[in-house]
Amino acid sequence: MASPNLAKFAYQTLQQGKSLAGLAHKELSSKLMELVAPEAMPNTKPLTRELILQLRRSMAALEQLDWSEAEQGIYPKAQLFEAPWLEWAAKYPLIWLDLPSTWERRKKRNTRDIPERVVPDIYPDYYLQNFHHQTDGYLSNHSAELYDLQVEILFNGTADSMRRRILAPLKRGLMHFKGRSEESLRVLDVATGTGRTLKQIRSALPKVELLGIDLSASYLRQASKYLNNGSTELAQLIRGNAEEMPFANSSMQALTCVYLFHELPPKARQNVIDDCLRVLEPGGILVIADSIQKTDSPQFAKVLEDFPKVFHEPYYKDYINDDISERLSSSGFTNIHSESHFMTKIWSARKEN
Ligand SMILES: C[S@@+](CC[C@H](N)C(=O)[O-])C[C@H]1O[C@@H](n2cnc3c(N)ncnc32)[C@H](O)[C@@H]1O
Repeated sequence: MASPNLAKFAYQTLQQGKSLAGLAHKELSSKLMELVAPEAMPNTKPLTRELILQLRRSMAALEQLDWSEAEQGIYPKAQLFEAPWLEWAAKYPLIWLDLPSTWERRKKRNTRDIPERVVPDIYPDYYLQNFHHQTDGYLSNHSAELYDLQVEILFNGTADSMRRRILAPLKRGLMHFKGRSEESLRVLDVATGTGRTLKQIRSALPKVELLGIDLSASYLRQASKYLNNGSTELAQLIRGNAEEMPFANSSMQALTCVYLFHELPPKARQNVIDDCLRVLEPGGILVIADSIQKTDSPQFAKVLEDFPKVFHEPYYKDYINDDISERLSSSGFTNIHSESHFMTKIWSARKEN
């Protein structure tokens, strides 16, 4: 790695570049939508200057924390530069080609446009939808291949920085098992999607056994390409429902769960929390990352209210008002903490010994 100042400058420049690219894409694509598919335009008002400034300050604070936790050794600095640039460059035109079908679904309010070959009875009903108006929902390789880049654009290049906020509480939580070897610890990422969180965990905790579960075989296929392509230990990827996971009681020392809860109806949210408690060993830690909520981020209320107007997110409105700490506590978790970083809120909770 270059000298610390140079490396920090490179990181800041990279983040600014990603942010500008995300903003430019959104500006251009919404101009095009206005022109070609005006009926698909969401009914939202522009952000005020004050709100834009607040968002920028919050993003800068996230960037600063991301750098400082790397400096503290919570994860390697190389992690800050991790992005499959060539792959994303090759996929970028596909995002544009995909837009017209997205607008069509938005226009027709068609939110159940799922591939015909999908066998519905192996999925919960709430899952068979086009979250974010995404082509094929989560149920095709096409969707899985575009997902990471789409999220990167949506969050103006901050998605990985926000995901990384789980690493410090995860490592602190695992200190409970410090008498054991790192190799003997099992960390499961719930709703792992394309595996970006697992990759981050691997770089921070290279020896732990990693597992991921998700309902989408296509997303897991993508995760496998991303994670199981070198000489590192295999991450085990299992297709299954986070509400009733195919793992034994008390079989994991830590669980993470990133950006799942806002896509679940309230009952499923509670089921996932309850099942996390079941599979955790006593003393184990659960770390959740998801969208910020109304109570602790009232200054961003407009952004939170606009989000489900722009993207199909049927449970988001309920989620931003939900008391996740209360759910954790009613399930039996203790030591519940939460904190917010830009657009992401982190909860950590322990299963009592
Ligand atoms: C917004 S994505 C987040 C993926 C990943 N954690 C990330 O950070 O990018 C939501 C993921 O949750 C998965 N999912 C939704 N409901 C699920 C459930 N009941 N059980 C397991 N996975 C589920 C989806 O297939 C999708 O991969």
